[in-house]
Formats: sequence, C-alpha cells, structure tokens
Amino acid sequence: MRFDILTIFPDLLKSPLNEGIIRRARAAGILEINSHNIRDFAFDRHAMTDDRPFGGGEGMVMKPEPVAAALQAVNAEQAGGHVVLLSPQGRPYNQSLAAELAAYKHLIFICGRYEGIDDRLTDYIDDEVSIGDYVLTGGELPAMVLIDSISRLLPGVLGCVDSAGRDSFSRGLLKHPQFTRPRVFAGHEVPEVLMSGDHQAIRRWRLAQSVKRTRARRPDLLAGARFSADELKDLKSEGVETDGLRAETAAVKLDVALVHYPVCNKNKEIIGSAITNLDLHDIARASATYGVGTYYVVTPYEDQQRLAMEIIEHWRQGFGAVYNPDRGQALAKVVVVDSLESLFKEAGSRGGRYHVMATTAASGAATMSYKQVRQRLAAGERTLLLFGTGWGLAPEIMAQVDDVLPPLGGKGYNHLSVRSAVSIILDRLLADA
Ligand code: ADE
Repeated sequence: MRFDILTIFPDLLKSPLNEGIIRRARAAGILEINSHNIRDFAFDRHAMTDDRPFGGGEGMVMKPEPVAAALQAVNAEQAGGHVVLLSPQGRPYNQSLAAELAAYKHLIFICGRYEGIDDRLTDYIDDEVSIGDYVLTGGELPAMVLIDSISRLLPGVLGCVDSAGRDSFSRGLLKHPQFTRPRVFAGHEVPEVLMSGDHQAIRRWRLAQSVKRTRARRPDLLAGARFSADELKDLKSEGVETDGLRAETAAVKLDVALVHYPVCNKNKEIIGSAITNLDLHDIARASATYGVGTYYVVTPYEDQQRLAMEIIEHWRQGFGAVYNPDRGQALAKVVVVDSLESLFKEAGSRGGRYHVMATTAASGAATMSYKQVRQRLAAGERTLLLFGTGWGLAPEIMAQVDDVLPPLGGKGYNHLSVRSAVSIILDRLLADA
C-alpha cells in the first residue's frame, strides 16, 4: 500500500514512520510512505503556504495553489490515489473507518495547518477525517494515527495473521485483561484459569471478561456487538448477564420490488402507474433501515425510468449527496428495471432462485403467514417481495408468484399507501424483537 503525506513539517513525521512495525513493513515492501513538503510547491519568493483569511478573523488559511500543485505532482507519479484531508471537521475516525480506508491501494493525506485550508480545494479531496473532538495544531499527528492503524490491518504487517481480527473494537468488545510473568505481583496472583492449559476454559473466561469490561466502560459499544448461540451459552455458564446482548442473525436475503406495470386500476383494468418521489425515497429508506438488499423499481416507461434515475443521481452525486449523504446511501439500494423478466435476469446473475412473494390488500389470497416467511428468511432463504402500485398487482403476476402474504389491517377500511405497507411488512418480517 502506498501513502503520500502532504505537509509543511515533513520532519515531524520521520520518527513515527521509522520505528517498530511500520519500519519493518516498509523494509519488507508492504508499505511505501512518501512525504512531500508543500512549501516546495509554493510559487512566490517567500515560499508562502498560508495567508490571511478573506473577511477577516483570527489566524491564517492554507493557500490553495501549493496544495493543488503538490497533489498534481503525486498524481503524475501515481494517479488515482484516494485523497483524505485531516481536519477536526471530518468524519469521526474509528476501527471500521480504518478498515474502510485499508481497502485502498493508495492514500494521499493532506495535513491541514493554521485555521484550515482554502475551501476551493474541496474538488481535489475525496474524504475528510477527524481523529477526535479536540483541536490539534495540525493534521500531521492524525495522519500518523491513520497510517499506524490502517497499516496493521494489512496482510503481513502484524506477526500473527489473525491479530487484527482479535483486536478491541473489531467485534465491538474491549479486550480482556492480559497477564505475563511473574505469577505474583504486589500480592496479586494471575487468575487460576490462565494457568490451567484448558484452552476452551481460557477462551470462555476471556470472552466473559471482555463483555464485563465493555459493559462497565463502553456500553455504547456493546449495543453493536453480536454473539453466536454458543457464545451466549458460554457467557451464561461464566455467570455473565446475557439479557440485552444481541444474537447473531443469518444475513437476510430479501429484495423488494415496486411494480408500476402491470397493475390494476379502480375498475380492475390493467394500467401502468407513474413513479412518485415519495415512494422512491420512503421505500429506499425503509429498505436501508431493515437491511433489504435491493429495492427494484419496475417500469417499462423510458421517461419514468429517466425521472427515477435523475432523482437518484441528485441524492447520490449531486447537491443532495452533500446536503444529506444518508439519503444517498438509502437510494443506492434502488435499481430501475423495465419488467419483472429483467428483474429476474438481473437478480439471477447475482445469486440463486428467489422465493417470490406477492403482497395484496385483497383478502382470501394468502398462502403463507408472516411468521412462516420470517422463519424462512431467518434460515437464509433468498426472497423477493412484490408490491403493486395503483389498485394492486395484475392477476397475471399473482398467478406466477410462489406465495401470497395476508393483507394488512383487517378492520374494514383497507387503503394504506404502498410505502406504508412496505414499512409495516418489512417490520413484521425483519424487526429484531
Ligand atoms: N487537525 C487538527 N485537529 C485535528 C483532529 N482532531 N483530527 C484530524 N485533524 C486535525
């Protein structure tokens, strides 16, 4: 992996990058780390890299040209690096962001100084990261923190292949207590079990200690941890309270499709309906909330397909992506297809056959209960849930599906919007409780 660091204090980086594990990984050719002095790219006589802020105010702002020129020079050597600005305004850094960044082959870090960098550099930057809610004098130490934590996730950097996998945080638990010689220190003995040679007992003890520590010190982390059925049993046998610990679930393989053609109108005639912004957004949000794989939008009309794509683009890449990135994440689930046949072709290339289920507001058509579908999903069955717009899915679709879910409600009035129905049905099928 290659790191390039753009800084005005390259000497600050020398020692941390030339000691211990990082030094060995560089010598072994696993890491290539280059630092670049931004001052070398300043164009004026005094090699100025900062200037006073327009509009007045405290401190100095990093000038855009030297940073842009330094980036250009790195790019000329090796194009396509992922550019990360270190700043207190960035995404909060944690183990999962370290793992995300470790997937890149080339990272370029810009170490901000003074009161920040000129905002017109935004177009050159892919990501902005903060190592915590405090302000340092510059991005150099944060860049070192990122390099250290990312490097140790790379194959070959740590001695033992699985060391990083057993880290604190990698599964949402703090590390258990560790002991080494002597057996007695200041009157305290090493716990008996660690001398027993019984590896299963040691594993159980360590897990119990991790859970107890995390519960006491970082209950926020524990909420995200998942435990296998065997681990929950072990924890109970170690006397650890397991109420509130969450069990691992098999990854659900559920896709949903919103069909705009062929559907019925009020008079039971076959029609095609129009795409709505609300259905696109709300069903995408429900899909992301409940862990649905793909949300297919089925319409044969090209103008409607274009409209859907424009809305998605706006939130994925346009101003919407900056304004509300979470919405873009939800809309990334949407795939627009022209027919159910195309959907099956597309889905077929991604995995095996579906159990295809229709939903309907009509009574008397149901062939499978919510409980049964819930169990089948929990067992990992690949399922597609079809929702009709208008007055519901056309009979020709109902005749092709494997099963039909019961209608919602049952109190006489039965006119939920399709997006309400999707949310309720997803909750019935996938909610934890
Ligand atoms: N530069 C100054 N403070 C910082 C922080 N907390 N994280 C990243 N870069 C910084």
